[in-house]
Formats: sequence, structure tokens, C-alpha cells
Amino acid sequence: MLKAIHVTKKFGELVAVDDLSFHVRKGQIYGIAGPNGAGKSTLFNLITGNYGYEGRIEFQGKKITGLSPHRIAQAGIARTFQIPQVFPSLTVKKSISVGSRFGARGGLDPAYVEEVIRFVELEEEQNQKTGRLNLLGKKKLMIGAALATKPKVLMLDEPHAGSNAKEIKDLMDLIRRINKKLGITIIIIEHFMKVLTELTDELLIIESGRMICCDAPEVATNNPQVIESYLGKAYAESD
Ligand SMILES: Nc1ncnc2c1ncn2[C@@H]1O[C@H](COP(=O)(O)OP(=O)(O)OP(=O)(O)O)[C@@H](O)[C@H]1O
Ligand SMILES: [Mg+2]
Repeated sequence: MLKAIHVTKKFGELVAVDDLSFHVRKGQIYGIAGPNGAGKSTLFNLITGNYGYEGRIEFQGKKITGLSPHRIAQAGIARTFQIPQVFPSLTVKKSISVGSRFGARGGLDPAYVEEVIRFVELEEEQNQKTGRLNLLGKKKLMIGAALATKPKVLMLDEPHAGSNAKEIKDLMDLIRRINKKLGITIIIIEHFMKVLTELTDELLIIESGRMICCDAPEVATNNPQVIESYLGKAYAESD
């Protein structure tokens, strides 16, 4: 569904993404992990067309390299950001409507907006200003605004960061429902091992922009190089 072929991104001397090739298949929850500064968020910015790069990215068999972010969103790729970004003065409903208008296929769809608000469980907050939402609320909103574009692929950049155990569980449930009930392919950048092993079907581990391994999560997290460079000794010694 989404294929990266020898993708490289340099910021001056720094090679943030270094000759990465991978293939996300339809219906998967595809995990991306790696240390801070590994190039994970940069990779999302390349897929969404925010920066130019070397190599090629294909979506549903067609090249999207060189398309504008707007065209890529319209093709059916939506994303959320590592730091929740909301318009504080808009209501929850209005913010999700903006997503609906921006997105694929046919402009604002009020009935679908209602459906999305129910799906992300923000009915009670729908007329509140988004600035009043707590962190979990802001995250659900950001996911809702992305869903309102009717994506085929949803990319989530560390959705669980800063969350407590209950919030992590709620978000994992939401991500699973998006994948299973809406049939949306998910690409998730994540640091929490529990989330990666319980949620993902396949896991790509990168370090300094390069692939360390790409495998089933239980295999990838037991790769000796991954344990050494990323998970650390503490993880290797725990069970
Ligand atoms: N716009 C930019 N200009 C210059 N350097 C950048 C830019 N964006 C990212 N970088 C650098 O590229 C490298 C990869 O950054 P990136 O944000 O992709 O890492 P990450 O894997 O998402 O890390 P984290 O886990 O901390 O979110 C870092 O060294 C970062 O400083
Ligand atoms: Mg990042």
C-alpha cells in the first residue's frame, strides 16, 4: 500500500533518513521505533510531502514523491503530530469539520463529522473550545481531525507520549478500532514497548536514519542489535 524505495533525507551534513526501503501493507498496524533523533518524524514529513528527498515513495502503486502535502492528503494519507496541535479557539466539532473540508473526496460532510466525534468519544466535549481539552482529549481530537479526511492510511507520531496507563489503554483501543472497524491502515511511531508488541503487526526499527531490522514485533524486539543499541541492557535483563 505504501512503499519507500531507497529514501534519503539530508539536512546539510546530517543524514536524517539514510537509504530506507520498506513496505506497509493494506490493513496493517505498522510500527516504527528507534532512539531519539533516529529520523522517525522526518520520515513522516517525507511521506506527507513536507520536504523534498532522494528516492521514491509510492502509495497504492503510484508515485507520490514530489506531490504537494495537500495532494498527498487527498490521496488518502493523514497524520497526527508528536506534540498535539489544536486550534484553541475553535470548538471540537469545528476542528473536526476543518479536517473534513480539507480531506479527500467531496468536501465537508456533516454526517461523517458526527460519526467521527462519536467514534473518538468526544460527544460530550463537542461544543467546547479545544483549548480546554485535557491531553487525552487533544489527542483524540487530533486523531478525529485526521479521520475526518477519510484516510486510507493514518500515521500517528508517538500518540501515547506523556500518557498514563489508563490513557495508553484508551488510545490503544481507539487505534485498534480505527484499524479493525474502519479498515484504515495505521503507521505508528512509538517508544512504549508494550504498545509496539501488543498493537503492531510489523515493526521497523531505525537508528541514525538506517534500518536496523524489520520484522514481526516479537522478533524485532529480540534482535540482538536492537537490544544493544536501543532497548538497552535493562530491557534485555527483564522479562
Ligand atoms: N527541519 C530540520 N532541519 C534540520 N535538522 C532536522 C530537521 N528536522 C529534524 N532534524 C534532525 O534530523 C534528525 C532526526 O530527527 P527526527 O525528529 O526525525 O527524529 P525522531 O526519530 O522523530 O526523534 P524523537 O524520538 O526525538 O522524536 C535529528 O538529528 C534532528 O535534529
Ligand atoms: Mg519524532
